[in-house]
Order: sequence, then C-alpha cells, then structure tokens
Amino acid sequence: MDKKTIHLTLNGEAREWRVYPNELLLNTLREQEFLTGTKYGCGIGECGACTVHVNGAPRLACLTLALACEGADILTIEGLARDGKLDAVQEAFLGQSAFQCGFCTSDMIMMTRALLNENPQPTETQVRDYLRGNLCRCTGYASIVRAALDAAEMERQETA
Ligand code: FES
Ligand code: FES
Repeated sequence: MDKKTIHLTLNGEAREWRVYPNELLLNTLREQEFLTGTKYGCGIGECGACTVHVNGAPRLACLTLALACEGADILTIEGLARDGKLDAVQEAFLGQSAFQCGFCTSDMIMMTRALLNENPQPTETQVRDYLRGNLCRCTGYASIVRAALDAAEMERQETA
C-alpha cells in the first residue's frame, strides 16, 4: 500500500502527514509526531485512553483512520495548555490529585474539556455519565469527578 499525503492542523500548527490508508490516528500521533500523551490502551474502542479532539469533538484515535483527518483540526493533551498556562481542567486535576498511575489522565482531561465546552456547568451525574466510556483502574473516579466539577467552577468564576 502506498502512503498518501494529507494536510491538517495539530495543536494549532499546520501539518503535512504521509500516512498509509489503514494507518490509525493513534499510531500517527505517537510514532510520527511523538505525542505520547495520547495512550494506547485497548486498541478496540473500549477504554477511552486514546481520546483526542477532532474538529472540537472527542474522538477515539484508535478507531480513527489518519487518512480521514484530511483538513481536520486535531487537539491532543500536549496542545491543551496555552501560552504556558495550564487549562483549568489540568489545574483542577492537579488540585484534586485526580490520578494514580496516570495512564487515563490524558483522556480523562480531554474528555472533561469536551464536556465543559458543551456544558459549562454539569451536575455530578452529568460528569459521571459523560466520562462513563473512559476507564480508570486506579482512582475509583471520585477525585476525577471532583476535578471536573472544580474546573467548571473555576471557569464560572473566571467569566463571572
Ligand atoms: S485505546 Fe482507544 S479506546 Fe482503548
Ligand atoms: S490513574 Fe491509573 S488508570 Fe486512572
């Protein structure tokens, strides 16, 4: 199979990728861009570890063909902080120590960011529901949910 050339935006910067037709976005991010914050968990769409944003919506990079990202705007955990300032979700995860091994942390943060973009003031139930496809083996989720609610409150205060 021959590689194809695609053009896209990655973490705010223009990119040209040469990808195989069957190449997964997850592999391109990790092996071509060396952005290893996006994790390879199950590889079959069941754990959420590979969550990135594509055109502003959360997407499982293990189920996304890189070739399908022609013209897309992709955001990974490495692009979330801006101008040296962490995103409120990142700050809140630090504040709540919402991680143990850290393997799920990138995807939990990216998923929480997507939730707050859609719904800036979610309830605890809404947070748990939105994150239900993202698995954590370590924390029991309580600190992650608290972090999501903290981030929402931090952003509410910033805009008040
Ligand atoms: S690695 Fe993509 S969902 Fe598990
Ligand atoms: S902190 Fe270990 S999987 Fe979530």
